[in-house]
Amino acid sequence: MIILASLKTTLGDYRFDNVFMNASGVHCETAAELDEVAASPAGTLVTKTGTLQPRSGNPEPRFAVLELGTINSMGLPNQGVDYYLAYAEQFQAQHPEQPIFLSVAGMQPSDFPVLAQKIQDSGFTGLTEFNLSCPNVPGKPQIAYDLATTAEILTAIFTAFKKPAGVKLPPYFDLAQFDQVAAILNRYPLTFINSINSRGNGLWIDPETDTTTIRPKGGFGGIGGQYAKPVALANVRAFRQRLRADIGIIGTGGVTTGRDAYELILCGANLVSLGSVLATEGVGAFSRLTTELKAEMAKKGYSRVDEFRGQLNTL
Ligand SMILES: Cc1cc2nc3c(=O)[nH]c(=O)nc-3n(C[C@H](O)[C@H](O)[C@H](O)COP(=O)(O)O)c2cc1C
Repeated sequence: MIILASLKTTLGDYRFDNVFMNASGVHCETAAELDEVAASPAGTLVTKTGTLQPRSGNPEPRFAVLELGTINSMGLPNQGVDYYLAYAEQFQAQHPEQPIFLSVAGMQPSDFPVLAQKIQDSGFTGLTEFNLSCPNVPGKPQIAYDLATTAEILTAIFTAFKKPAGVKLPPYFDLAQFDQVAAILNRYPLTFINSINSRGNGLWIDPETDTTTIRPKGGFGGIGGQYAKPVALANVRAFRQRLRADIGIIGTGGVTTGRDAYELILCGANLVSLGSVLATEGVGAFSRLTTELKAEMAKKGYSRVDEFRGQLNTL
């Protein structure tokens, strides 16, 4: 029997034809790159994280492909929030049936309500992802490891913001931390979380020269790709078990095969985003992974993603 698997999914009140999307920062810094993701089989897209002012980011080399993933310390190079907001408004005018995501971050906590107000006052009708987890800006901590500041920022955002919103989270590694973070997130009208950002501050050493691989921060950088997969699975699973049922999850981290995406969905992901694999393989990754995920679903006898979402077995 041939099963024709569908990758249609939902997040909040939004519908998407495919679970796959790009991860913020990868193939999304310019309108041309965003258009390429839009023209691929991806179900939606997210912009590069935009800050209030454009940024050139950290000195190069700031990205490297490793044996099983990537290291980067980009430092949020971006064209500024106004550029991405203009792109998003134009995109929605041309594709009213295809909701997209706008990613934004403050360089300091007080930027967040300003960004929120700007998007609130705009015509943007998609979903906003507040990035609370960039590990690569020298001298700036990953906000979401500071729970008091995270709560203050969320309070400030949701005072101004009445549109659908989510947060991009760093990986957590302690079960008590999942409890604490989820307890905070559950207090706010979030539509989704995105878990995980890069595993912050890894090191990669060139064995020929005994030298670090990227220039910023003495070589420390965020790790993505296969190195991140078990951590991403655990974070998606742990948050699915702790968050309000109406808060959806974008699963990000370590996806290089259709099976990886299937496992993130088993842990509870509504959408699955591609970072390192998209950086190394280009937008062709969306067709390959779409085919592979459908094949995996057919092998398991599933025709829709909601038949196995969150259905992980334990011993
Ligand atoms: C080159 C590069 C730039 C990134 N820039 C951003 C960014 O601007 N905003 C963000 O939220 N995450 C950013 N990330 C993190 C990715 O969105 C993703 O969370 C991370 O790479 C883990 O996914 P992966 O294992 O598929 O790479 C970046 C990652 C890479 C490799």
